[in-house]
Amino acid sequence: MSGKYVTETLGAEERGLRRAAAILASGGLVAVPTETVYGLAARADDEAAVARIYEAKGRPSFNPLIVHVSSIEMARALAAFSATAEHLAKAHWPGPLTLVLPRRQDAGLAVAVTAGLDTVAIRVPRNPVMRALLNEAELPLAAPSANRSGFISPTSANHVLATLDGRIDAVIDGGDCDAGLESTIIAVRQDGSLQQLRPGPIRLNGVGPAADTADQVEAPGQLASHYAPGKPVRLDVIRHVEDEFFIGFGEVGSDCSLSPTGNLEEAASRLYACLHQAAESDLPRIAVAPVPDTGVGQAINDRLRRAATPA
Ligand code: TXA
Ligand code: MG
Repeated sequence: MSGKYVTETLGAEERGLRRAAAILASGGLVAVPTETVYGLAARADDEAAVARIYEAKGRPSFNPLIVHVSSIEMARALAAFSATAEHLAKAHWPGPLTLVLPRRQDAGLAVAVTAGLDTVAIRVPRNPVMRALLNEAELPLAAPSANRSGFISPTSANHVLATLDGRIDAVIDGGDCDAGLESTIIAVRQDGSLQQLRPGPIRLNGVGPAADTADQVEAPGQLASHYAPGKPVRLDVIRHVEDEFFIGFGEVGSDCSLSPTGNLEEAASRLYACLHQAAESDLPRIAVAPVPDTGVGQAINDRLRRAATPA
């Protein structure tokens, strides 16, 4: 493909992981499987390496990155953990929860990782391949979703290559992601209060969304238009028309079903695969069946609304 790199596809076994760790150590870019979506990783302590992430994705520089570490001990070297933060980390790590915490002065992170904010977003992923890589690399890894900025998030190595082939050094093929939606992001404020900056696979009772403030984009993943398949998307559709690629839910005929049995976890794990199929099909428009707004359905509908919002 076009681009200045020849992108290697690496296996998820020891040899592939050793190669990936070597590329990362020397400041390169490797797309990695996680339990949520594939991430585009670079060492988080190196300005030049982190700058390459923004360049490969075409990501605006004001949009900060999530730092992935192998343990809560490693996370404590990067951020101040209040009692509330400790509690959340112990309950949900490793897993699809990202905590936004006050950044430590001596964190040693590249400035571009946090886009100049005095907070840092951190998570300990659960995917075994990603865990093995973090152990092999022994570095905090900055990793946004491994897609061109604004496009559909990747849940397979092929989805990564669809927009980043030739723009990154390597992708580790670790199969399909199991949760299939980006991590829940929770900000732990100095006063101990919590705000949900992005809904995701983990739901915390009684934590409300952050108010949208026009003057500061806190989590630009929350910008109205995102995850865009490049075609008009119509939501809550019972009866689609002929030139629409129909994404179904439950017992309806469709071009791609989120879950034939109406299971929301399965729907979450298949959402981006269906959107990728819809984007690649010859049909000029996309229609999506209603998805119940309960449980992880709230995060699915959040992503669908953004996919349906014109850029
Ligand atoms: O599941 C995930 O979170 C995946 C995998 C790879 O870990 N990553 C991911 O990264 O979704 P990305 O870059 O697509 O989304 C990160 C979100 C963005 O909305 C960004 O604005 C927000 O996290 N974010 C990062 N640092 C932040 C900070 N210090 N304060 C507020 N929001 C922050
Ligand atoms: Mg993203």
